[in-house]
Amino acid sequence: MADTVSSVQSHYGSDDLTGQILRALEGAGQDLANPNAETFYPADQLHGGGLNTTKRQAELAAIPDGARVLDAGCGIGGSSRFLAQNFGCRVEAMDLTQDYVDAAKALTEMCGLETQINYRQGDITELPFDDQSFDLVWCQNVTMNIEDKPRLFGEVFRVLRPGGRYAFSHAAGTGTGAPYYPLPWAREPHYSFLETEDRILGWLQDTGFQVLENANEADSFGSAKRPTVDLGRFSVMGEDMPERGANTQRSIADGRIKGMIVVAGRPD
Ligand SMILES: C[S@@+](CC[C@H](N)C(=O)[O-])C[C@H]1O[C@@H](n2cnc3c(N)ncnc32)[C@H](O)[C@@H]1O
Repeated sequence: MADTVSSVQSHYGSDDLTGQILRALEGAGQDLANPNAETFYPADQLHGGGLNTTKRQAELAAIPDGARVLDAGCGIGGSSRFLAQNFGCRVEAMDLTQDYVDAAKALTEMCGLETQINYRQGDITELPFDDQSFDLVWCQNVTMNIEDKPRLFGEVFRVLRPGGRYAFSHAAGTGTGAPYYPLPWAREPHYSFLETEDRILGWLQDTGFQVLENANEADSFGSAKRPTVDLGRFSVMGEDMPERGANTQRSIADGRIKGMIVVAGRPD
């Protein structure tokens, strides 16, 4: 477990990330004078499918205006800002990687969204929140780094109010062979934990969730449309992302992994 935590943190972490992001966006001609959430979308959507997947997940989750949301594994805050700006959500956001939390805070303050979003560092398998605190738990491409998924699902269930929803996207295994490494979420297999769709849905049901949506859309994972702002080789997740992204595509094409967007409800 400790080994997984440190592997994940060093996989994602990077010095002066906020400075790197601002320089990359400025170099690509992005106007940073009066930023809002959209300003950072070309850099901050750290999941296959990019902003399209975020929008699709939000549509499937049917988010009520002003929802209380937990963004579990928030990265640098791309989804938190999207949810705060577009749905008036009040967001608690948490991530294991301190460098990402620092960048998330800095970018959010630049947008003036800091009164709606609160970031903290931490492990989402041990949530520091009261029972029934949230209307929605939101999670994008995090569970591939989490070995004990039943524990995560139990924690998510606990902090959701009855009638609340857990919306997540991720890559599942298919049981037909290992994917090709390095991948976006792991350069080596020892901190990548892919489970089959059947096991994931079974654990959700065992926890008490009802599965409301299970979208296995071909473009929900790995086929991120190029952002309109071209950042060249820059990626928050590292300059080797083209190779890692190509390995995702190859693993999907060979039937070794698949993208899923799931919405599960805690019954009333
Ligand atoms: C691929 S990034 C996705 C970030 C964000 N959800 C997004 O889509 O932009 C995966 C994130 O999961 C975080 N993560 C992995 N395991 C975690 C854990 N146990 N608790 C909290 N965050 C975790 C990583 O630090 C990283 O920021």
